[in-house]
Amino acid sequence: MRARTLLSITAAAGAAGIGYAALVERNWFALRRYDVPVLPADASPVRVLHISDAHLTPGRRRLQSWIRALDELDPHLVVNTGDSIAHPEAVPYFLEALGPLLSRPGVFVLGSNDIHSPRPKNPARYLWRTSHGEHTRHVPDLPWEKLCEGMTDAGWLDLNNRCGKVSAGGLDIALAGVHDSHMGRDRYQDVAGPADPAAAVRIGVLHSPEPRVLDLFAADGYELLLAGHTHGGQLCLPQLGTLVTNCGIDRERARGLHHHPADGSAWLHVSAGLGTSPYAPVRFACRPEATLLTLVPR
Ligand SMILES: [Fe+2]
Repeated sequence: MRARTLLSITAAAGAAGIGYAALVERNWFALRRYDVPVLPADASPVRVLHISDAHLTPGRRRLQSWIRALDELDPHLVVNTGDSIAHPEAVPYFLEALGPLLSRPGVFVLGSNDIHSPRPKNPARYLWRTSHGEHTRHVPDLPWEKLCEGMTDAGWLDLNNRCGKVSAGGLDIALAGVHDSHMGRDRYQDVAGPADPAAAVRIGVLHSPEPRVLDLFAADGYELLLAGHTHGGQLCLPQLGTLVTNCGIDRERARGLHHHPADGSAWLHVSAGLGTSPYAPVRFACRPEATLLTLVPR
């Protein structure tokens, strides 16, 4: 085969791959389901809907409708692990997408992308470096207060460096969360201490699954840890899976349900997220997702 022919075939395959990643997979939403054995022996199952990283912009109507339809799963609790918006005008669209979910018990933390608007970057650079330390902007330019207000006004609990308690599915659930460690806003000391032993289950909530923060939650007795941020790698290879995590978590636990520490007893669920930065609107072998976690007896 002549070099020119080979080059043409490679270019055509590359263009087809990018087209698929941008037009098909980015809008091919998946619902994942896991059972998590964290409840006392006699408790009824509790359905927790975990959403993350919507990075919503006003034009993403398909994503909005898909999020809204998640209410049909009849979750007892909704957990949003941040990076919900990616545009100054996106808050009402995101709240509209949550729609009926806002009538249910819910909790949330923020990610860096709720605070600072996205900027154009070479989308491939994440393959060789993380964005940690790039957050040099100090003045927020996205309406994160409005975003928080919209959720707290509906009764959702703001867990940014805060603890709280929620009654869901007939059980008392103790929760603690931190603001985004990826941009240095986490203050675990504000929530530190043994998790409420009287609660039926204890859940730690954070945007970026940074092991040093996960260790603290696990040591304090939180038996289920929920995070997002990684996008599951976003551009994956079918045989190799996640290539990069954009934080300290290992590639094997960049999405899905695992233990934390890897050989420990707490459960860690990392969502691969619902969206992408508008400047890297591609997903490959890593469909956008939400997860229904059914908490069941141990
Ligand atoms: Fe994100």
